Amino acid sequence: MSVQQWLQERVDLSGAQEFMLKKKVPLFYGTVWYYLGGITLFLFGLQIATGILLLLYYQPGESTAFESVQMLVSKVEFGWLIREMHSWSANLFVLFAFLHMFTVFFAKAYRKPREVTWLSGVVLLALGLGFGFSGYLLPWNELAYFATRVGSDVAGNVPVIGGFLLRVMRAGDDVTGATLTRFHGIHVALLPAIFTVVLAIHLALVQTQGMSVPPAVEKLPPERRRYLPFFPNFVMRDAMVWLLILNVVALLAVFFPWEIGHKADPMAPAPPGIKPEWYFMFMFQTLKLLPAHLLFLEGELVGIIGFTFGGLIWFLVPFLDRKADPRSKVSRFFTWFGIGLIAYMAVMTIWGYLV
Ligand code: HEM
Repeated sequence: MSVQQWLQERVDLSGAQEFMLKKKVPLFYGTVWYYLGGITLFLFGLQIATGILLLLYYQPGESTAFESVQMLVSKVEFGWLIREMHSWSANLFVLFAFLHMFTVFFAKAYRKPREVTWLSGVVLLALGLGFGFSGYLLPWNELAYFATRVGSDVAGNVPVIGGFLLRVMRAGDDVTGATLTRFHGIHVALLPAIFTVVLAIHLALVQTQGMSVPPAVEKLPPERRRYLPFFPNFVMRDAMVWLLILNVVALLAVFFPWEIGHKADPMAPAPPGIKPEWYFMFMFQTLKLLPAHLLFLEGELVGIIGFTFGGLIWFLVPFLDRKADPRSKVSRFFTWFGIGLIAYMAVMTIWGYLV
C-alpha cells in the first residue's frame, strides 16, 4: 500500500487535490508579478526558520542581549551566518512586500471581489514594518538604541493617545531594559501570531478567488487569453525562484555582513547621524524637513497627521477608486497617485541618505 493510499483512506484529500489540479495562472506580460507575493512568503518563512535558531542563543536583557549576539556570531558554529541571513531576509522581505503591493496596486488587483485581500495585505505590511522596528532594538547596540528613542518619540507626538502609546511602547518613560523585554515579546510572539492569522486569510482569499488580470488583459476575448497550470508548472517555477532568492540571501550574508557596532549606553549622548531603517527613511526625512511650526500646530504633529491620513487613504483605495469598480476601467487618477507616491518615497529616501 502506498503512503498516498494509506493517507487517502484516513484523510480525504481528493477535494484539495482536484482544486490544485484545476487551478491555473493567467499567462501574459505581467505573469512575472505573480512571483512577488510568493517571494515575500518565502522570505517570511526564512525569517521564521532563522529567527527560531537565533532564539536558541539570544538572551534579552540590558546586560545580556548585546553579549549574547556577540557570542553567537563569534563562538557558535554558523551563528554568524544565521544572524546575517535573518537580517538580510528581513530587509528583502520588506522590499518585496513593497514591490508586491505596488504591482497589485498598478494591476488594480484590489477591485471587487479582492477588497479584503488588499485590506489584509496592508495589515501584513504594517505588521512587517512592526517586525523591523521591534527587531532593530534587540541587539541592544548604540545605533538601534537611539533610533528606537527617536522612533518612539514620534509615536509619542500622535494627538490624544501619544503619551499612552509612548509608555506602552517603551514600558516606561524612557527606552530601558524593560523596553527591550517588551520589544522581544512583541517580535518573537505577538507579531508572529497575528501575522500568521492575517497571512492565512490573505492566502485563503488568493486561493479561492484565483489570480486577477489587469484591465487591459481583461478586455481580451476569451479565446485570446492564455493560462499556465498552477500544478506542477507554476509551482516548479516558484520553487526555482525561491532557490535563487535563498542563494542571493546567502551571498549577501557572506559578502555584506551587518555590523553589530558598540553596545548601547543610555548615559552617552546620541551619536551624530542617527538614521532609522531604510523603509522608515521617507517619513523620517519628511518630519526633519517640516518647520518647527506650521500655522498654529507643531510641524511634526502636522507630519504625523499627514502620514496617518495618507495611510488611511492607501488602506481604503479599493473603496475610493470607484472608477475601477465596473470591470475593465482604467482609473488613471489612481495610477498617477501610485506613481506620485513612489516618486515621493524615493526622493525622500535618497535625500535622507545624502544629507
Ligand atoms: C507582507 C506579506 C505578504 C505576503 C506574504 C503576501 C503573499 C501573497 C501571495 C503569495 C499572493 C499570490 C501571488 C501574487 O499575487 O503575488 C498574494 C496576492 C495578493 N496580495 Fe499579497 N502578500 C503580502 C502583502 C501584501 C500587501 C502589502 C498587499 C497590498 C496592500 C497585498 C495585496 C495582494 C492582492 C490584492 C493579491 C491578489 C493579486 C491578484 O489576484 O492578482 N499583499 N499575496
